[in-house]
Order: sequence, then C-alpha cells, then structure tokens
Amino acid sequence: MRILQVTAEIFPLLKTGGLADVAGALPLALLAAGQDVRALLPGFPAIAAGVRDAQTVAEFDAPWGERVGLRLGRIVTAGAPDLPAYWIDAPALYDRPGNPYEDASRSPYSDNHRRFALLGWVAARLAQGLDANWQPEVVHAHDWHAALAPAYLAFTPDNGKPRAGSVFTIHNLAYQGLFAPWHLGELGLPPAAFGMNGLEYHGQLSFMKGGLVFADRLTTVSPTYAREIQTPEQGFGLDGLLRHRAGALSGILNAVDDQVWNPATDKLLPERFDPRRMGGKARCKAALQEELGLAPEADAPLFVVVSRLTEQKGLHLVLHGLDALLAQGGQLALLGSGDAALESAFRDRANAAPRSVSVTLGYSEPLAHRLFGAGDVTLVPSRYEPCGLTQMYGLKYGSLPLVHRVGGLADTVTDSTLEDMAAGTATGFAFNEFSDTAYERAQRRAFALFRRSADWRAVRSSAMRRPADWANAAAGYVDVYRQALAR
Ligand code: ADP
Ligand code: GLC
Repeated sequence: MRILQVTAEIFPLLKTGGLADVAGALPLALLAAGQDVRALLPGFPAIAAGVRDAQTVAEFDAPWGERVGLRLGRIVTAGAPDLPAYWIDAPALYDRPGNPYEDASRSPYSDNHRRFALLGWVAARLAQGLDANWQPEVVHAHDWHAALAPAYLAFTPDNGKPRAGSVFTIHNLAYQGLFAPWHLGELGLPPAAFGMNGLEYHGQLSFMKGGLVFADRLTTVSPTYAREIQTPEQGFGLDGLLRHRAGALSGILNAVDDQVWNPATDKLLPERFDPRRMGGKARCKAALQEELGLAPEADAPLFVVVSRLTEQKGLHLVLHGLDALLAQGGQLALLGSGDAALESAFRDRANAAPRSVSVTLGYSEPLAHRLFGAGDVTLVPSRYEPCGLTQMYGLKYGSLPLVHRVGGLADTVTDSTLEDMAAGTATGFAFNEFSDTAYERAQRRAFALFRRSADWRAVRSSAMRRPADWANAAAGYVDVYRQALAR
C-alpha cells in the first residue's frame, strides 16, 4: 500500500515532544512490514538540512498565491531502510529559527494558519498526482498541524479516479489549531467547509475538526484515551462529535523505537545493561549522581522527570510531594522546559537542596537517556495523557513509572499490588484520584517496594521485559488503512 505520513515533526530531525518519536518510528515499522511509505514535512530549517539528496518534484502556487516548491529526498537512519521524504520549500513560511510553532517570546506565529494549511493542502495535491511518479493510496495526517489534509481531500473535485483514503491521528486533543474564521477563503476551502458539520468551532476555524469530521478513519494513541475523549470531561467540547464518529475511531497504543531506546545498546549511556545484567544500571546511577552534584548514595531511590513543563503533566503534584520524598531519603532529578512558574518553582527547590534535587531547564536528548538509565522511578503524574512515551522509556530502562491512571498511562503501567506482584505482571505504581494525597501514597508505595530489594528487582525485571514493539502498532495501522480504503 502507498501511504503518505503527514507530520510537522519527525525524530531525529525535529522534535518538540512525543509526536516526533511516533512520526519517526511508525514509517520505519511500516517499511519493515513491506509497505510503500513516504513522509511529507514542512520545510523547517532542521528538515531542509536533514533530508538528504533532495530534488525538486514540483513548483506551484499556494491557495493564497505564494510560490512554493516540493522537494523529495530521504531520511537516513542507521540500522533501518531510508525513508523517502517530501518537504515543502516555502522559506517565507518556514525558514525561522527555534521552535516550529512559536516565536522567541513563545507566542504562536501569526501566520500559522497558512503554515499548516499548506501542509494539508500539499498532502491532498500529492493524492491527486502532484508527483507523477508516486501517488498515495492513503494519507495519514497527525495532529492539528496536518488535520486539514482530510478536509482538502473531501473537497477535491471528482476526477473519476478513486479518492485516496484518509486517516487522522489525534496525539493530543488539547491542541486544536483555532484561527479567525475569515481565513477560510484564503486557505482555498469552500464556504461549505465551514459550519457545525465542518470546520466551525464556537465561531472559529478549527483545524482539528478538519481531521475529526472529514477523515475516513480516526485513531488516537491509546485505547483508554479513545474512550476518554468521548466524555465531556476530556472531550474539549468535541466529545459529541467523537461519539458520533465512534464507529470510525480506534486507539492504537504507541510503542518504543528499539533502535533509539534500548539500554542494552544505548550509546548515550555511560554503561549498557539488560534484565540479566543490571550492574551497568548501578554505574549509570552513580555517574549521573556525580554529574548532577547529587549525593553519591546507591541506596537513595532516584526519582526522575523528563517532561514538557505544562499543566497537562501534573507536576504540581511532584512539587507538593517533594518534602515527603526528601524526608524518606529520596533524590529527584528533573529535565524539562516550558511554563515559567513551574520552571522557577523547581529551580528554587534545587537551589535549596542541591545534594538531593537537581533541575536542568532546557532540552537535551542525551541527558534524557542518562536519566532513564540512572533512575529508579520515572514520575509521570499527568492530569491527562493521550499515550505518553516517557513511562514506556522508564519501563524499558528499569526506572519504574509512577503514574496517574489515565489515558495511555493506564494502558501501559500495572500497579505493584500484591496480586500483580505474585502474578509477575506488576511494572510500576499507579494512582487513581488526581490529588496530592493519592500521589503521595503512590510515592510511599514506591519507597516501600524499594526497601524490599528482591521484590523490587522482580518488578523491575517485568517492567523491562514488557513488549513495546512498533511492529504490532504498525499492523494495527495497516488494518485501519485498509478500512479507510474500503470506506
Ligand atoms: P508529550 O508528547 O506530551 O510531550 P510524551 O511522553 O509522549 O509526551 O513524549 C515526550 C518526548 O519528549 C519523550 O521522547 C521525552 O523523552 C521527550 N522530552 C520531553 N522533554 C524533554 C527535555 N526537556 N529534554 C529532552 N527530551 C525531552
Ligand atoms: C502527544 C501526547 C502524548 C503522546 C504523544 C505521541 O504529545 O501528549 O501523550 O505520547 O503525543 O503520540
């Protein structure tokens, strides 16, 4: 099957969060399964520089008249086949340093409607034959940035040939791409595309609805989140639409890219380890404690956080529970960036107790690997979480996840109850109610288990062995692509 993956981020070229990890791993798993896959990306500087041997495929005018180009090259990853990748060459829109969505003062760019409409528009043009040598049968769009692709496809004039199937994946319903309604015309969509059964959302133009209304099939990144977004609590006002489309919606759990995240082969760790040889993990911990200026105590449970610092991630629970964590002899190492108030709250705590709390504000892929490699517990107490990847990296690296039981966190982590420990299925710590009390009780459970080292080792071993193979997820997507074609 010829499948076009449409995404704003892709690891290893450009990443602000888990979307990039998925967009990087899924196409490789589909290629490995024998599918004919290509990616379509905006020409951000990191993408233009990272796609090799790019050749011009077409030059054309965007709906608002701007001249743009389409290039085709390949993304090269060690140990995997090359991924053919198109990128949209529109320097006036994309050639800006830093974050792909926001300017230096963290405000969304004022022309984001054009920057991301173009991504969906080019996807639909490719489905109509823009590249005479390759035409997708299925267009798979990720998140609001790519969500107009299914809308453009739906409003494509009939040319007698079968239309490409469309699949839209929700990675996070909270980010919707809302713009002033008068942009509709300039984006080349007909007035009929607006309205309640179209792109209108409380009077605004919603890119997210382009995917939710017009895609043949909808997916999200965990089965539990697929159910949660159909409730008023987590539906952001779109739950009615999602219930209406429930027959077309499914949850496919994300997985872990073994080429990037595997403690047995990870070159970013000072030492490698696996469930049968855990000595390397102890040395990773000692090395990290030294690197971060933490007290060199092997017996102090090390809690790690690798996260965007946003409301979603529930990190005020960690701040509130920190005194109890320190009183029980634990250490905390955090890597993250985002919300200024959270940044300064964590920085203050590190300044007050530098031998027990380390806070690194910023973004560092290598340090993230070292934290999972060294950690005993990975904290992911998110308010909501579509899937979450860091708890899966924690599992694989034997840094047991402590999570709020929602979304993908509920689907990937099994609490260490006596029954699950006896059955060998326990992999971490999960709490139900999103409250300081419930969080702190889970934190106490982690300390209690840590002091029982044989039990700790048994749970850690189950965690590290939990299957998280992208081949499974890719097979699930291939089923969905078939359904989209058969619509
Ligand atoms: P989300 O996409 O909501 O941010 P995920 O858990 O799905 O959450 O994915 C987050 C990804 O971003 C993971 O790969 C994680 O390691 C990475 N990450 C988050 N913050 C940082 C940071 N400050 N430095 C390095 N990697 C980070
Ligand atoms: C989003 C979600 C996260 C998910 C990621 C990849 O960023 O917040 O839960 O893991 O997408 O699907």
